[in-house]
Amino acid sequence: MTQLPETARRMGRIQPFYVMELLARARELESRGRSIIHMEVGEPDFPTPRPVVRAGADALREGHIHYTPAKGIPELRRAIADFYRKRYGVAVDPQRVVVTPGSSGALQLVMGALVDPGDEVLMADPSYPCNRHFAYLAGGEALAVPVGPETGYQLTPDLVERHWGERTKMVMVASPSNPTGTLLDPEALAGIHRVVRARGGVLLVDEIYQGLTYGVGERSALEVADDLFVINSFSKYFGMTGWRLGWMVAPACYVDAVDRLAQNIFLSPPTVSQQAAMAAFSDDTLAILEERRRQFEARRDYLLPALRSLGFDIPATPRGAFYLYADCSRFTSDSFDFAMRLLEEEGVAVTPGKDFGFNRPHQHLRFAYTTGLDKLQEGIGRITRFIGKA
Ligand SMILES: Cc1ncc(COP(=O)(O)O)c(C=O)c1O
Repeated sequence: MTQLPETARRMGRIQPFYVMELLARARELESRGRSIIHMEVGEPDFPTPRPVVRAGADALREGHIHYTPAKGIPELRRAIADFYRKRYGVAVDPQRVVVTPGSSGALQLVMGALVDPGDEVLMADPSYPCNRHFAYLAGGEALAVPVGPETGYQLTPDLVERHWGERTKMVMVASPSNPTGTLLDPEALAGIHRVVRARGGVLLVDEIYQGLTYGVGERSALEVADDLFVINSFSKYFGMTGWRLGWMVAPACYVDAVDRLAQNIFLSPPTVSQQAAMAAFSDDTLAILEERRRQFEARRDYLLPALRSLGFDIPATPRGAFYLYADCSRFTSDSFDFAMRLLEEEGVAVTPGKDFGFNRPHQHLRFAYTTGLDKLQEGIGRITRFIGKA
């Protein structure tokens, strides 16, 4: 019997989520009766809003279980376009809206449709780790540009200009960002767009934490331009992670290519989820989501000063998503080891920086406030005890 072949060479560059190792250990400890405070989880702790669940259950009962068009059902694409008009005052042609299996599906489609082998996608470091893996999957390269608190952990027009190379084709930004929770201000976004377009590239803006902003107005990159990709999702603000539904707004010239690829890779986004999402923009749902947004804001307002006063350095105030990215170099030069010990000794789970890139990851931890205020308070108590022992 011959040996089965090796996996593709590209798999050598696809890294796991290191936090999964930590999560597995947390679950093991929990199964033995230990109390664990979860500050590592990247999804809302709230259930899907009732009107959405009801619409999903109705859809199942009514037999909406067949494939839909690959770009999604026209009613949902129209509802999304309408949402942009009502909430952000921008006119979006529903033809440019493509509904996808999570925003992960959208990212895969954009990379697949645009990135040739050897093409470079420029992105911030730290940032969402899957982005560089999507580029590799398409045969492309990811150029991760180190960013720090001085730019709010975001790319700037100047950084894009300086790092642009012969093979650069796309620039990715995220606002609000994972892991830093920081926003890209509209002027910087417009500047980046100008640089990218002047060089013949395309800009992709990840807005999947849109709606979750605190103390600042909500914006969309579509207010700035329409020759860019905007990626969004029902996962975070709408509390629908497991329904696996997202969308993109694409420049009109790419819609056919994206459609063709979606037909081949996914056939269609999940049908029941699309029907459920039709209730996501109703007044009832939006009222529930606004109440949740306020709760997230109250959690941030508690956790941010609490961590800072313990000695974690969080120089750029996070104004969105549900993450704080903290420099922990006052306590350790190995954030993975710190996170593991914090879990073992005090039962607090946080995400080590090494999940987010190569820019001083060992000096950083991501804290997620996807758990109630009482749990966060308990967590801070345990962290205080832990660093007191160190
Ligand atoms: C910045 C960012 N983009 C995209 C995603 C993918 O989310 P989904 O596929 O659930 O829409 C995530 C998930 O955590 C994320 O943090």
